[in-house]
Amino acid sequence: MEVLIYDIYRAFMKIRIAYYKIVNFFLAKVHFVKVGKHCKFDGRTIWRKLPGSKIIIGDKCIFNSSHASNRIGVYTPCMFSTLSTEGVIEVGRNCGFSGTVVAGAVHVKLGNNVRCGANTLITDSDWHCDDYRAGVNAGVVIDDNVWLGYGVKVLKGVHIGENSLIGAGSIVTKDVPANVVAAGNPCKVIKIIG
Ligand SMILES: CC(C)(COP(=O)(O)OP(=O)(O)OC[C@H]1O[C@@H](n2cnc3c(N)ncnc32)[C@H](O)[C@@H]1OP(=O)(O)O)[C@@H](O)C(=O)NCCC(=O)NCCS
Repeated sequence: MEVLIYDIYRAFMKIRIAYYKIVNFFLAKVHFVKVGKHCKFDGRTIWRKLPGSKIIIGDKCIFNSSHASNRIGVYTPCMFSTLSTEGVIEVGRNCGFSGTVVAGAVHVKLGNNVRCGANTLITDSDWHCDDYRAGVNAGVVIDDNVWLGYGVKVLKGVHIGENSLIGAGSIVTKDVPANVVAAGNPCKVIKIIG
């Protein structure tokens, strides 16, 4: 009986994923967001693209946007927003997002196979740019195979080198080299990988 119910649940999930694929591809088209082939969506990803700005998503990316789409718990839908008409968000192939917020006022660039844990934030701006206390916008680059742990926040001007892992809850304010584990607030290297 338990197996039967589980099979029904799985069938329901397949229908749900197919439904969200149609909805999200449609909404991406409406917002002039370029989404690559074979991307998967659970829940509704929110695209907010200003005219003239760009959001480009590579093939085979996964977007978990509903509370139960990930066993670790997702607080908010994935949201990709450009904050200025010059803003660019570029995402490579095979990246994963769970309740991830990505905001680009200048340029946010993610390589391939970047894994963004639940409830992560990547932003190249302090957002309230008209407030004299805000800093200067500066692009963010996250190289191939980077893994951001749960709740990581990557702030303006940061470059994270390939294969590096950022520990849960870290606030990344400075560059992180390739092939390291880094963690904390502010995020610092704690281990070399390999
Ligand atoms: C970063 C991480 C992978 C390191 O794990 P590890 O290699 O086993 O490292 P350790 O647990 O031995 O910790 C090494 C040191 O870093 C510190 N540290 C580990 N994770 C930390 C974190 N997230 N924030 C701050 N410090 C951290 C430890 O306290 C320890 O400090 P010490 O040497 O002074 O005792 C792990 O702690 C982590 O954050 N995992 C969560 C990944 C995640 O979010 N997964 C789910 C979503 S995808």
